[in-house]
Amino acid sequence: MGTKAVVETYGRLAAHYDRRWSFYIEATLRETLRRLALQPRERLLDVGCGTGVLMEAIAAAIPDVELAGADASPEMLAVARRRLGDGALLREGQAERLPFADGSFDVVSSTNAFHYFRDPVAALEEMARVLRPSGRLVITDWCDDYLACRICDLWLRLFDRAHFRTYGTEELRQLVEQAGFRPVRIDRYKISWLWGLMTAVGRRVAAESGERPGPPQGRAARWNRSAAWPTDCGAS
Ligand SMILES: C[S@@+](CC[C@H](N)C(=O)[O-])C[C@H]1O[C@@H](n2cnc3c(N)ncnc32)[C@H](O)[C@@H]1O
Repeated sequence: MGTKAVVETYGRLAAHYDRRWSFYIEATLRETLRRLALQPRERLLDVGCGTGVLMEAIAAAIPDVELAGADASPEMLAVARRRLGDGALLREGQAERLPFADGSFDVVSSTNAFHYFRDPVAALEEMARVLRPSGRLVITDWCDDYLACRICDLWLRLFDRAHFRTYGTEELRQLVEQAGFRPVRIDRYKISWLWGLMTAVGRRVAAESGERPGPPQGRAARWNRSAAWPTDCGAS
């Protein structure tokens, strides 16, 4: 029900999204890129990737990064496909059930999407699942520590069926730690006199035993997009 509203909403917004939200997108990109600390040849999954703006910025800044994106909205993904061509593997799917195999990525990012996730714990557990041991999580979203965001959250809960809820820094920290990330650092910052965001950076805890095996490591083991990006987790 909830994700249906998200899909309908972004089906309508997709064609105008980049233009309409350009200030907000630019600020998010700037703040998220600074905290990603991506290295050449790392594999990144962007969850709720929308029109692919973050992946485009990463591709321009860091050579040879392997990019993948998942989003629930086919229309947003269509814009991302036009933007990125074969520069990224794009899959329709929900954050709560990611269409990628265990341990597939070095980094998972998500920007401006977490407040839509109906089951944030399941989404974070999925992000942990698709990360390799010690892989990094970087989430940027609205920050409820700021009054403007709290008011907006209440209004959207009443009038926007697509919206789910926003979080403060301590709530987000608890959720991220609960999903198996440690340490977790959360920065909050204003992007205008009114509006505030936060970025959480965490590392997937590598269990001492019973660790799920990650994908092959090293340059020689780089995956062939067409064949080896496993999708055994129920792509929709
Ligand atoms: C505000 S847009 C952000 C897009 C992009 N990350 C950005 O920063 O420009 C939110 C995106 O999250 C996606 N989304 C919302 N809930 C989702 C879910 N449960 N699973 C996957 N994608 C979801 C929407 O379809 C939409 O493309």
